[in-house]
Parts: sequence; C-alpha cells; structure tokens
Amino acid sequence: MSTFQSLTVGVPREIMPGERRAGAVPETVRQLTDDGARVLVESGAGEGAFVTDEDFAQAGAEIVTGPADVYGQARLVVKVKEPGFNKELGCHEVDLMREDAILVCFLHPANPSNHDMVRRLAARGVTSFTLDSIPRISRAQHMDALTSMSTVAGYKSAITAAYNLSRFVPMIPTTAGVTDPAQFLVVGTGVAGLQAIAGAKRLGARVKSLDIRPEASEQARSLGAEVIPFPLPEGMGVGSGGYAAGLPEEWYARERETLEPYLVESDAVILAALIPGEKAPTLVDASMVTAMRNGSVIVDISIDQGGNCELTRPGVEYRHEGVFLSGILNVPAGLPIDSSRMFAQNTLNYLSYLFEEGALRGDLEDEIGARSLVTRGNKVVHEGTLKAMGE
Ligand code: NAI
Repeated sequence: MSTFQSLTVGVPREIMPGERRAGAVPETVRQLTDDGARVLVESGAGEGAFVTDEDFAQAGAEIVTGPADVYGQARLVVKVKEPGFNKELGCHEVDLMREDAILVCFLHPANPSNHDMVRRLAARGVTSFTLDSIPRISRAQHMDALTSMSTVAGYKSAITAAYNLSRFVPMIPTTAGVTDPAQFLVVGTGVAGLQAIAGAKRLGARVKSLDIRPEASEQARSLGAEVIPFPLPEGMGVGSGGYAAGLPEEWYARERETLEPYLVESDAVILAALIPGEKAPTLVDASMVTAMRNGSVIVDISIDQGGNCELTRPGVEYRHEGVFLSGILNVPAGLPIDSSRMFAQNTLNYLSYLFEEGALRGDLEDEIGARSLVTRGNKVVHEGTLKAMGE
C-alpha cells in the first residue's frame, strides 16, 4: 500500500484577492499520484503562478471546472490560504466541503478575524490542519512553509526597497566619480529579516540591523550587518520556541529612541519585527518618518500583522513628505512561481507525515500533529486558538 492510496485530493483555485500562489504544482501532483492519490485540480488554479491546466493534466491531475466540483469530491483539500466567502457562488468555501473532509492550508486560526471560519469548520465536521503551527523542530524543517514564505518576503523586501530608491544601491565607478553605497537598516532579523540583509548585501548596500533576540543579532552579524546595540534586561524579549516576546511599552519607547538616529542616516528601512500571535510592535512613529531623508524608502513587511511603522497602510504604496512607504500585503504572493513551488513541496512533505495508506496516521498526538491540528470531531482543539477565543 502506498502513502496516499485511493485518496482523492482537491486543489481549488485561491479566491483571496491578490493571492497568486497555488496549493500544488505539477511536480507535487506527480508525486501524489505516484503514491496512490487521485488529484483533482480546479481549472485556473495555477494561473497566477503561470501553471496551466495542461501542465497539471500532464502531471496526472484531473481538471475540474469549478469550486463545487473540487470541494464536493475531495476528501483532502490542499490550498494556500484559509477558506473564505466565495462571492461568485454566494456561499462560504467551508460549506462546499464534504463533511468528512480534511483541510490543509495556512489557517491563521488564532487571528480573531478567522474565529468564525474556524468554528464553521468544526461545525461542519472538517478535520483541519494549519501549516503556520508546525513546530520549528529539526524533524519538521522540510515541512516548514512558514520559513519558506518568510524567505520570499525577506528577499522581495530588499528588491522592493532598491527599486523604489531614488539613488544607486552599490558603489559604482562612473565618469563623474564613485557613488556611495546605499545604507540599509533592517529591523527584526528573523527568517525574513536575515534574507533581507542577504539581499541588500548582494545588491551592494551597507546594512545595519536591530533585533531584540541576541541569537538573531548574531546571525545578522554573520551575514555582514552591523548590529545596533539595544541591550535588554535578562530574560526580557525572549519567548518560547526561539521566538521573541513582547516588550513593556516603556521599552518600545526606548527602542524607537535608539532607532531614530539610524533611521535618519538610512536610505532604506526594512521592517520585519513580529511577535507570534500579536499585533506587530510600532517601532517607527510618524515623527521618525518625517526626520528621514528625502528620497528614502520604508518597506514594512510586518504589515499583515498591523505593521511596524505608524504610517504604513495595508496594501498601499505612497509617499509621505519625501519618504516612500510600502505596505504591500502578502508579499510571498508577489513571487508566485517560486513561492508556489516551495509551498507545494513543504505541504507535500507534511502530508507524507500525516498520511499512511490513504488515511490519517493514528498517533496525531505526536508533537507535529498535535500542534498543527485545529479542528477535529466537531471541536476546535488548537490551543492557541482556544486561548485567543477565550475558551
Ligand atoms: P518572526 O517572524 O515571528 O519574528 C521576526 C523577528 O522579529 C524575530 O527575529 C524577532 O526576534 C524580531 N522582533 C520581535 N520584536 C522585535 C522588536 N521589538 N525589535 C526588533 N526585533 C523584534 O520570527 P521567525 O523569523 O519566523 O522565526 C524566529 C526564530 O524561530 C528564528 O530566528 C529561529 O530561531 C526559529 N526558527 C527555527 C526554525 C527551525 O528550527 N526549523 C525555522 C525557522 C525559525
């Protein structure tokens, strides 16, 4: 028997505005079918990532015409973003699912705007798993779609900053003399911030950085960034699982004070500081933006969690006085070919862990299963979500 024996897997077209990634690519469809699955792909599911129905069909998928068709047949639904209301059909995607369906995607279940959707999944009887809660342990590294997508966001942020700058990034010898390299500042050097540093260095920038976790600053330094000192009292800022913890408001004020002189001398500022499950901290206020040089740029990739800059607006790029502010949402969707490939491969690796002989494995109490399971048996079982729901 093979891993996905007789399992019908459905890949719907994403309906969230601006979402160009796909839950599968031809390579992962081929692996699923080789391992026993029947794969249904909704027509146009790969369009945003430049994958045609024909490409999917050649990899062994059956192309179906609409969402009702794919959700109505699939036992396992694989998609990128959480289910939402389908305006064209006038119904919620959850209500299209089979009552014994298994759903795997980024559910962001603790986010209050998703609580109704999570309750709807439970009420319908859907067993759902969220990719954003797979623990960051070495055994699960190859399933870590969150890291893959942060890699994309960090890379793209450096390119976006460079593209919108009013000057060269590298040192360039010209007939009019040698240009100075641009000065970049990266705030928050987790997976995305580190990738932003690497991207900015490749473009020839000088880079400074700040993070509240000493480990993150160490990694930034090893990539060639000059780390801005911001010592915190013992234990402050360090949460569980290698993540940061929120600071008392007084310390955020101190951090803004520390950052201000560096902002003033920067050409580009990339903001990537996050606290899991919380609104992104405000690290750049309006007066700090006003103090920046004309022609400089802020790229705020924490905007999906509210933004690190008081003036960045979700989904909007605009100029405030002389400063260009980018608040593009869902940055990984802006690199859909590679982000779909990485997403689909991480998801397939996770499915290979979840399934045995076409059924969910027995011991979902294992750390990976237990942490990422959201709804089962008509109940919400995800700890962070229950906490966020106050239950
Ligand atoms: P994240 O996206 O939640 O946070 C981004 C960064 O913002 C973090 O480095 C955090 O320390 C920083 N930050 C928070 N508040 C800040 C503030 N006030 N000022 C400046 N910076 C602030 O975190 P991410 O990037 O998803 O991962 C964090 C860590 O998780 C990694 O650095 C690593 O240690 C661990 N990890 C482990 C993996 C594995 O073992 N498979 C894979 C990926 C991450």
